[in-house]
Amino acid sequence: MAEEHKINLCSQGIALKALFSGYLIVVAIGYLMAIVQIQFTHGMADGELGLSVDDIVYSYYGKRSGSVLEAKLNGSMKLMAPEADRLKIINWVHKGGDEKSFNDTGIRKIFDTNCIACHNASAGIAIPDWTKFENIAKRAETDTGASFSSLARISHIHLFGIAFIFMFVGLIFSLAAGVPRYLKAAVIVTPYVFLIIDISSWWLTKLNPNFAWLVIIGGGAMALSFAFMWTVSMYEMWIRPRKGSDKRDALLDE
Ligand code: HEC
Repeated sequence: MAEEHKINLCSQGIALKALFSGYLIVVAIGYLMAIVQIQFTHGMADGELGLSVDDIVYSYYGKRSGSVLEAKLNGSMKLMAPEADRLKIINWVHKGGDEKSFNDTGIRKIFDTNCIACHNASAGIAIPDWTKFENIAKRAETDTGASFSSLARISHIHLFGIAFIFMFVGLIFSLAAGVPRYLKAAVIVTPYVFLIIDISSWWLTKLNPNFAWLVIIGGGAMALSFAFMWTVSMYEMWIRPRKGSDKRDALLDE
């Protein structure tokens, strides 16, 4: 029995230290697995290994120039229509390529005058027939990234799940006596702030690709505060006791 038991990580008995350490180790492995999983789901979005801003843009915003129609209009079909008409088609593709605006905004007319001379069923060459809208629609389809429903799903899972993890990591870390109180409070609150920033930035990136860097900052700041809390907690439980007993009470900001 210690003559003066203070509430700090260093002075806890072996049972609580074992519990805290077991939890911290498993959560750290979980974190590493999450990073591996991100590499598989988002890391390859741009065709290259490793997570980049492009990956995040492609995952949430989509590869909006990814339609065959736009690629061809910038490539081998570039000279088939006057510049203004060509841009009108590309613009229509960007706006979703729906049939109503195809008819109403004069896109059909552009196709009729410039394209169907070759692109028709009786042309005798194996190229798609542009007199049928569904043939055009298929090639106008753009990749708009994550859907709003999947964003809503992964957002709420992340908010609940990650808040829960940081509740316990933060609780353990709050018992570390060797960290100045304001620094400690800041480190504890950082993951929550950046969790909100991270998840908001998924939605913002879906709307505007320039927000992709915010996703990286949000995720990075969360990982840094996790690493800091993890290391300090482990240090105070297992290394700090070798320097003798700790008389400070961590909960009282001593
Ligand atoms: C002079 C004939 C000709 C005209 C006019 C023409 N095309 Fe083509 N188009 C082709 C040929 C030949 C191919 C196949 C070779 C290629 O992909 O470059 C093709 C292929 C395409 C493809 C790729 C289809 C696929 O799924 O592989 C698209 C998209 C396309 N054209 C769009 C257009 C549009 C839009 C116009 C009008 C602005 C147009 N083309 C006018 C001859 C024409």
